[in-house]
Amino acid sequence: MSEQEAKDQVLYEEEDAVAIVTFAREEKLNAMNTAIVRRMTELFEQIDRAGHIRAAVLVGRGRAFVAGADIEEYSEQSFSEFSEYQSMGRRMYEGIELNRKPFVAAVNGYALGGGFELVLACDLVVASSRAKMGLPEIHLGLLPGGGGTQKLARIVGRNRAKEFLLTGRNMTAQEGLELGIVNRVVEPEALLGEALGLARELAERAPYAVREAKRLVNQGVESHIDVALSFEQAALSNLYQTEDAREGIRAFVEKRRPDFRGR
Ligand code: COA
Repeated sequence: MSEQEAKDQVLYEEEDAVAIVTFAREEKLNAMNTAIVRRMTELFEQIDRAGHIRAAVLVGRGRAFVAGADIEEYSEQSFSEFSEYQSMGRRMYEGIELNRKPFVAAVNGYALGGGFELVLACDLVVASSRAKMGLPEIHLGLLPGGGGTQKLARIVGRNRAKEFLLTGRNMTAQEGLELGIVNRVVEPEALLGEALGLARELAERAPYAVREAKRLVNQGVESHIDVALSFEQAALSNLYQTEDAREGIRAFVEKRRPDFRGR
């Protein structure tokens, strides 16, 4: 697939301070191949760098969010191409998790395999009542390679994660909500509006504080509590010295809305 084709299949738009990435390879349920992963990685890096962007939304067109890695491409790949794809994938997921901006997944339909791993990498998840999520790689004699085995276990616990990994069964949006993966379930027609509303809300917050909240939770849950509490205190000391914190405190005292500039 050419670079231009990958651009046509992963669309990028901006609505004020919110970036919207739309998976648009509808006829293949938005399955990701090498060119698409490269395009997505570039977009995530672009979102990280863009000073005017404060939040991002990921959404799919049609029946799927993303139905995972392109299995047809898997069938034609050499072992080294397969390994290269997995390394690129890791960089792509890190592009969300280490991104300075928060990501909202708007899960419109199937989010399977690597598509579910995108959901697990996002900071907040809004799902359509029609969404189906899971890690079906076991049906191929494989396993997830984008963090699925580790991240799912950390979110839902060992045995619940194993149920999905070992059986390959999908979960509904409601199950995702109950398991703590999904933040909100909405009717399909309300999905994008809800996700964009949430992203706009995040975009109004002080960017450094949002960035630090994301980093502290992501890093902190992987660290010893004493270390994590030190991260928190250090982050708060830094935030206290920002212009935005001055503005937030002043706005409260003056009984007006704060105007955060990201400084
Ligand atoms: N890779 C490549 N192509 C895929 C794909 C994937 N991960 N997921 C779906 N597609 C393609 C199908 O091959 C089909 O293409 P075709 O019309 O050229 O034959 C098209 O998308 C529509 O999918 P289809 O299987 O006909 O739809 P369905 O409603 O019967 O089933 C799924 C939907 C999601 C259950 C089924 O497509 C599926 O199991 N996909 C694979 C999911 C997966 O294993 N992901 C992890 C990969 S590591």
